[in-house]
Formats: sequence, structure tokens, C-alpha cells
Amino acid sequence: SVLEMEVEQINKGHYEHYMQKEIHEQPESLTTTMRGRLIRLGSNKSKSVLLGGLKDHLKTIRRSRRIVFIGCGTSYNAALAARPILEELSGVPVTMEIASDLLDREGPIYREDTAVFVSQSGETADTLLALQYALDNGALCVGITNTVGSAIARNTHCGVHINAGAEIGVASTKAYTSQIVVMVMLALAIGGDTLSNKAKREAIIDGLFDLPNKVREVLKLDQEMKDLAKLLIAEQSLLVFGRGYNYATAIEGALKVKEVALMHSEGILAGEMKHGPLALVDENLPIVVIATRDACFSKQQSVIQQLHARRGRLIVMCSKGDTVSVCPNESCRVIEVPQVEDCLQPVINVVPLQLLAYHLTVLRGFNVDQPRNLAKSVTTQ
Ligand code: AGP
Repeated sequence: SVLEMEVEQINKGHYEHYMQKEIHEQPESLTTTMRGRLIRLGSNKSKSVLLGGLKDHLKTIRRSRRIVFIGCGTSYNAALAARPILEELSGVPVTMEIASDLLDREGPIYREDTAVFVSQSGETADTLLALQYALDNGALCVGITNTVGSAIARNTHCGVHINAGAEIGVASTKAYTSQIVVMVMLALAIGGDTLSNKAKREAIIDGLFDLPNKVREVLKLDQEMKDLAKLLIAEQSLLVFGRGYNYATAIEGALKVKEVALMHSEGILAGEMKHGPLALVDENLPIVVIATRDACFSKQQSVIQQLHARRGRLIVMCSKGDTVSVCPNESCRVIEVPQVEDCLQPVINVVPLQLLAYHLTVLRGFNVDQPRNLAKSVTTQ
């Protein structure tokens, strides 16, 4: 009806689509996610994280034999992005399960496990059934959702709300970045105040405080991503290479491109390049390589060299000022992004890929907010 259309327009503000609004809203949604949870204490300015919903369970989590993340789609990808910092700060082994796959295998879940369920809607059927399965097996179940009162929020033993605000677009964008931030805070909370981690922990907390500003900065790439989308509009396929902290960015960027722009796209773990994907490389197939500064940087430089040697059509994402260190020649396109603490870099790096997917979709004339065949909340198996 006309009324419904008008209400929609009001909800979208000056944006044309919810996905666009939700991408641009991320500095604010991240701020709400962190509100009241990061603390700088006293005159010595010691820094700490407070997750109210978890504080009575932290001891149990620290003592667990393993932390297993369980989710679907983008929520799974967010957990994958946070996995390295959780492993580093907690010292507890961290494994990953796609909810449907855990159910298909009836994979092992034990009483000594902490199972963390990640879901924007809190209602995804596979994740909910995996939760039931983990409860039956006696694991401590933690929920990370964006929906207060959702089934996953209600049925877990404890949890953290991501507080990103309602997400309407079927493609998850702001929920993804807020989920990562919550899981980084979870890593800090589990890691506790050990002396050996102090410098790292404080650098991350400072980085979190500054993250909304850095996201505001990376959002300025909007027009550049629109130009890139124009260039890629008629392509059949797009590969995205990442590794380490940004393996998740690669598969999440590819998921966005396929689900809204209806273009084949694949996120590839760069370390696997020589074990198959390299055969696809020619002068036509566009390839995004994520090569921002972190522990994997020099390995990614050599990946770029090897793709270049096979005349790959490269689009390199690098840290500001790094163009000359990453670009083999003038035909290589560059996306320069602000550098942040390594575990927070996935929050920055996904933004240009969200923008690219958005613009590709609009230019190709597809429905951005409701891609064909998909639902916002997948409540059937
Ligand atoms: C994300 O863009 C997708 N629409 C989809 O992968 C989604 O993340 C998945 O269905 C999980 O949803 P949830 O976070 O609500 O559980």
C-alpha cells in the first residue's frame, strides 16, 4: 500500500535501500555495540572489558577444554574472523562448526565444551537445532545474537547481545561487524588481565575506541567502489583471496557478492592457492587480494607476485600508503584502507566489499534488500 511504502521511505531515511543504510550506519552501530562495555579505569587508565551477561560464567569458559563456534552464513564468517584473537588471548583451543554440518555429522560436543552460538536473528533453524543438540550433550551454551528475546537468546545459558539495531536488508552487514567486535571483546574478557597480554589487550581496547572513526574513514571509498562495480558489472565471476585474520573477509565479501549481485564469487584461503585455485587464473578473471599489514603481509606479497606472473587481473586491498609495496604494475587496481590493530582489520576490510556488492547489485538491476530465493531469517531446514 501507499502507506507501507511511505513508512518504508521514512525508515530508510535519505538512503535508497536498507542495505545501503545499514552499511553507512556502521560507525553508529559499532558505537552502540561497545557502549558501556569498554572501561578505562582510574588514574593509571588501566583498560578492561565488561560483558554483563557473561561475568558469572567466565571462569567456566576459561576452564573449558575447547570453545566451539556454531553458526550459518555471515554469522559463521564473523566467528571465523574472531577465531585467531580468541585463540591467542584465551589459550583455549577454538574450533568452528557450520550448524547444518555439525547436525549432519552429529559431531562430538562434550560437557567440557563451551559452545558459542552466533546468529543475527536468533531464530535460524539450523543454529537453533545445533543449540538443542549441544544442550543435550551438556555443553555450556553461549548466545551472541542481535535480537533480544529470540529463541537462541532465550535457550542459551548466557550470552551477549550485539545491539547493532534492527537489520532489515537480507544481506547482513552491520550485524557482521558488530558480531566481530563482540567476539573480540569476548576474547578480551576470557583472556583476563594477565600481565603477559597487557600491552596487546590495551592496544586492542584503544583500537576499539577508535574503530567507529576508522570505519567512517573507509566508508569514504563509496564512490571508488561504485567505479569498480561499473568495471566489473558484466563479469561472470570474482575471486577474493585472503588469509589469517582476513580469510573470513574473503569468504564474507564473496558471500555478499553472490547473494545480492547474483554473481559467482568465491573466497579463497590464499595458502591453498597452489593446491587448485591457481589453475583458474588468467588475464580475464578479476581477483581481489587482501594484503593489509599484519603478520601475513609478506606471504600475501608473494601471492600477488605469483598471480601477477600468471597475468592475473588484480585488485589489491592494502593499508594506506602501501600501494607501491603491493602493486606489481600500473594495471593493478588498489583499494587503500586505514590500518588498525590486526584483529580489528577484518571490520575495516569488509566495508569496501560490502559497498562493492551493493553497487554491483544496483548497477545490474537486481533487488538489493530482498535477493531472489532468500529470506532474512532461515527458519526451516
Ligand atoms: C547473510 O548475508 C545471509 N543472508 C545469511 O548467510 C545469514 O547470515 C544466515 O542465514 C544466518 O542468519 P542469522 O545470523 O540470523 O542466524
